[in-house]
Amino acid sequence: MTPRKGIILAGGTGSRLWPITLGVSKQLLPIYDKPMIYYPISALMLTGIRDIAIITTPHDQEQFKRTLGDGAQWGLNLTYITQPTPDGLAQAYLLAEDFLNGAASAMVLGDNIFFGQGLPQLLQEADTQTGGGTVFAYHVADPERYGVVAFDDADKVVEIIEKPAKPPSPYAVTGLYFLDGTAPQRARHIKPSARGELEIADLLQSYLTDGSLNVKRMGRGYAWLDTGTHESLLDASNFVRTLEKRQGLQTGSLEEIAFEKGWIDRAALAERARIYAKNAYGEYLQALLDADNWQP
Ligand code: G1P
Repeated sequence: MTPRKGIILAGGTGSRLWPITLGVSKQLLPIYDKPMIYYPISALMLTGIRDIAIITTPHDQEQFKRTLGDGAQWGLNLTYITQPTPDGLAQAYLLAEDFLNGAASAMVLGDNIFFGQGLPQLLQEADTQTGGGTVFAYHVADPERYGVVAFDDADKVVEIIEKPAKPPSPYAVTGLYFLDGTAPQRARHIKPSARGELEIADLLQSYLTDGSLNVKRMGRGYAWLDTGTHESLLDASNFVRTLEKRQGLQTGSLEEIAFEKGWIDRAALAERARIYAKNAYGEYLQALLDADNWQP
């Protein structure tokens, strides 16, 4: 079976962050010391996915290519797909249908950041599920901003409701969707919602109706940050800064993940350290090389 492929949805107008995003795509804004999109890419890499499609608006695509290239520097194979108009998250599966070519996928929204002890295991476990889908439910203070899970009395998931005025639970569905190869075909049957979009909630509902959607709780030991408002954007930067400053370890370093996975060799890592030699990111990569020298 073809290995699962990755999709990063990085389209949209970013209107909630205007005027910042008038001139630059939201997913390229900095989250402390890296472009935002590094973090969702790292989630796919930690899953073990190397074949990734990046979906952008037509006019932002060039900037993404400049930032990420073809991905070879991280042992990845990046494909760029344009989304002419932002017609909903489920549209991504139609746009990526040829790229997926029947393969299962993990789609992550370009503005979602995940962090936590055991995250790689959680992701890899979702990857091993062959049929149906897996999504993650996370307790939030403001569920009305998200897709929300409705449970019945037996704690069984009955519905996923997009931005409900009266949330049926505090559990939001994160922007990370592991779906089988039937997703594009299902997306084709979705009708646009009242706001004119192909809703991801409707796609997930189709799996739920079949009894093939696994809704896994992502517990309180994880951080799921989204960056949809000015405040949450700053919170995410501060979160990353706090961690990195305290631990001396990076979160979302694509070079580090690629090196640890054996997708790039020492020479490739050294080349990246050289490019960034003038700043803390380059120093960090150099330190990885140095540490590798004395490791048994
Ligand atoms: C989207 C989805 C929503 C999900 C959220 C996660 O909302 O529609 O179901 O909970 O992403 O970030 P958006 O942020 O595009 O409004």
